Amino acid sequence: MAPRSAAVAVVAVAATLLALCGSTEAHAQLGAYNKTCPQAEDIVFKEMTAVLAKSPGLAGSLLRLFSVDCLLGGCEGSILLDSTANNTAEKDSPLNKGLRGYDVVDSIKAKLEAACPGVVSCADVLALAARDSVRISKGPYIPMPTGRQDGNRSSAADVAPNTPKPGANVTDLIALFARFNLTAKDLAVLSGAHTIGKAHCSAFSPRLYNFTTTNSNASDPTLDANYTGTLRGQCRAGDLATLVDLDPGSGTTFDLGYYRDVAASRGLLSTDAALLLDGDTRAYVMRQANATAPDEFFADFAASFVNMSKIGVLTHHKGEVRRQCSAVNPPSASSLAPVTMSAHAVLLASCFISIVTMALVL
Ligand code: HEM
Repeated sequence: MAPRSAAVAVVAVAATLLALCGSTEAHAQLGAYNKTCPQAEDIVFKEMTAVLAKSPGLAGSLLRLFSVDCLLGGCEGSILLDSTANNTAEKDSPLNKGLRGYDVVDSIKAKLEAACPGVVSCADVLALAARDSVRISKGPYIPMPTGRQDGNRSSAADVAPNTPKPGANVTDLIALFARFNLTAKDLAVLSGAHTIGKAHCSAFSPRLYNFTTTNSNASDPTLDANYTGTLRGQCRAGDLATLVDLDPGSGTTFDLGYYRDVAASRGLLSTDAALLLDGDTRAYVMRQANATAPDEFFADFAASFVNMSKIGVLTHHKGEVRRQCSAVNPPSASSLAPVTMSAHAVLLASCFISIVTMALVL
């Protein structure tokens, strides 16, 4: 080959390889532990099955824990970190005091550490536990991408700006979701998670008492009057602590009950009721409320849930694989993380070697 065309060929091949090498952007993938810890997903499922057999109510708690983690700066396990002497963590924000299920994550993580030390991140444990919560509650099976790494930042100061305000209207909610590339449809679909689990009286009692400043007996007129009466029986004025089903009657079954509640003005949270006030979210609620089977909701939920699970994912050395979910690794253990993401390093090295080899051959 003439020197000039050889040089052109080298440049063209190198450019192609560099483009391919550069395409290893941060993303999670299906079966990321297939080689490094093939039993990981089975271990999580087995543990979740045992936990939920004893305490079915924890399904909602794990599902919510994951959604809060993702919406607070990304699905990188920051909600699991404990506060330290110098830092108040997300979990200790007053807005997150009601979250439950941390001990379940810790016990699953301990099982995974025993089987495959330093391999499976806490962010993935939470993602898998949440998707298994849906499955075990008779919802859809959601193929869940894995390979997230754990972040080391968790600040209570980040919570308020990224959490829907109590009483947020539907425009606020759509705007909040849009910040994470989630659509109004994702909002309507993911809110369907409220088909399982419970809320503290504090989360909705402003709808039951003192709804107007002039009448202490006034309740939210958009809430069904009979349901208001039932809720007042469950949550006396001033009771902030009692837990009430978000979807009474089928609070541990992942079904269409939530949409039927909302359509009948019996959505427990004001943010649930707000879905009726936007054309798109209302249409979705009404369609599911009138559906005879959950197939469309299940397919949509699986898709939106995976969309949510991709928010702010850390891969390729940007995070670490925590040994314990409640604390960042001590400096010496942090060096374990690159081992789990070595595929990226191998890819870059092979790209480099290929380019050099091409240059020599041509
Ligand atoms: C529009 C955004 C959302 C708002 C405003 C919202 C608000 C809330 C509130 C206030 C509670 C009650 C918390 C308590 O009193 O302890 C709750 C519970 C819950 N949320 Fe949401 N949520 C939203 C989105 C989501 C998403 C995206 C998911 C999951 C995909 C989710 C799953 C749950 C579950 C399962 C519970 C029950 C928790 C338990 O039983 O411990 N939520 N949510």
